[in-house]
Amino acid sequence: MKIAVGCDHGGINLKPFVEKVLKDRGIEMIDMGCFDTDSVDYPDYALKVAEAVSQRQVDKGVILCGTGIGISIAANKVKGIRAAVCHDTFTAQMCAQHNNANILAMGGRIIDGEKAAEMVKIWLDTPFEGGRHTGRVAKISEIENKYFK
Ligand code: RB5
Repeated sequence: MKIAVGCDHGGINLKPFVEKVLKDRGIEMIDMGCFDTDSVDYPDYALKVAEAVSQRQVDKGVILCGTGIGISIAANKVKGIRAAVCHDTFTAQMCAQHNNANILAMGGRIIDGEKAAEMVKIWLDTPFEGGRHTGRVAKISEIENKYFK
């Protein structure tokens, strides 16, 4: 499995914790930046990760900004992306189980690294439940098909 990770300066503090989870599991991490705490624009890193997921260069993505909000909004503008901003293990689990989220977004000014690591683990370990959720996720794709050029 390959996972792309992208962040801005507000989320970079979580990156080493995400990296350790992936390394411990033998998952290849594609680090799409940023690489220091200089101020950058989160949409640039959202786009890199979202395109890699959308084009199936990687299996999933993790994106990090101050709140997880801006970077997830930007990632969700790419067709095929279901980026979920989560703040705890329950939402990280549910975004996999019910929403089949292919990108997990977290906020470096909201949660600490240990929490982020637990969230990544449960997101990776939770399969999509399918069933009644399959049609609901398909309806998200229908909205994309209606409005995306
Ligand atoms: C950057 O200061 C901050 O706005 C960004 O990391 C993020 O929180 C935006 O949603």
